[in-house]
Amino acid sequence: MSLTDNFPRFDLTHRPTPLEKLNNVSAAFGVDVWIKRDDCTGLAFGGNKSRQLEFYLGQALAQGADTLLTTGAVQSNHVRMTVAAARKAGLEVEVQLEHRVEREQPEYHQSGNPYLVRLMGARIHYYPVGEDEDGADAALETRAAELAGEGRKAYVIPLSNAHTPYGALGYVDGAEETVAQLRALQIDPACFIVPTGSASTHAGFLVGVRASGLATPVHGVCVRRDSESQQRRMRAKIDSVIATLGVDLEITDDDIVCDDSMLAPGYGLPGEATVEAIRYLARAEGILLDPTYSGKSFAVLLQMLRTGRFVPGQAVVFLHTGGTPSLFGYPELVTQQSA
Ligand SMILES: Cc1ncc(COP(=O)(O)O)c(C=O)c1O
Repeated sequence: MSLTDNFPRFDLTHRPTPLEKLNNVSAAFGVDVWIKRDDCTGLAFGGNKSRQLEFYLGQALAQGADTLLTTGAVQSNHVRMTVAAARKAGLEVEVQLEHRVEREQPEYHQSGNPYLVRLMGARIHYYPVGEDEDGADAALETRAAELAGEGRKAYVIPLSNAHTPYGALGYVDGAEETVAQLRALQIDPACFIVPTGSASTHAGFLVGVRASGLATPVHGVCVRRDSESQQRRMRAKIDSVIATLGVDLEITDDDIVCDDSMLAPGYGLPGEATVEAIRYLARAEGILLDPTYSGKSFAVLLQMLRTGRFVPGQAVVFLHTGGTPSLFGYPELVTQQSA
């Protein structure tokens, strides 16, 4: 039984994803470091978005849509996985790529996610601004109206926070799955580490963990906004997830942790500690992170381990949300001198 059982859903995810111990990292720090492998959700290179898209696709199909429309950065994993989800469901798909990150490198614009989006044959539109969520959503609605004029029925997957949080339901369910795995292994973690961008993953996960009866801190790592703005976004998202589910659950402001220590130099731009964290995990465990999301959240975990935040023998769980195709848009990760 999941809190999300009554919502329409379209199956996109290999589940349960593995919960594995990072043996070499654990031995290095004397702490049991576990990784929830949501980079292995299975859809077109995997990642967190397949859990979220299951509920958007459920809505789209229930409404009889024939086309999906969504928006994101040029290297957006959400865009790549939306295209894959549309193809699996037999739908047409159009995506809007926003000018969100100042990067000239041709690989950023052509390799990784945009390469896969083209390979799967999505129609691509461009949006010249990167920090205008309402404008980007409005442009999708304009396109949906044009398609309606041609007799088509589009379903818009929006970006801003002002919509029913169907995506977050995927992580209510994802957290329930993780807690069940932890209970089966008799692990009581000291902390979960998750990235927080649109906040669907963080909000859904926090609600799912609390609804499952665990009081474990869920440490959100900011990838797009500073902690104050992300805290506000999370508050609104959590309230709306709880209202959508119709559950009786109280989550206080103190329970919402948004850590922006790895945000600089900005969205889609990895700082030195993030680059080092990506190289560290690749070389310690053969596990790949990405420069925008999972690299930043792992960099925070590494910092916590190095500064003795956990006592020996404690367990901690890192949620790997994927994003690995975008590595190919950042060739400097291996060409810089320190590589
Ligand atoms: C790989 C990856 N991790 C984390 C996130 C952040 O998830 P959310 O937008 O649900 O906060 C994203 C969002 O695009 C992502 O692609």
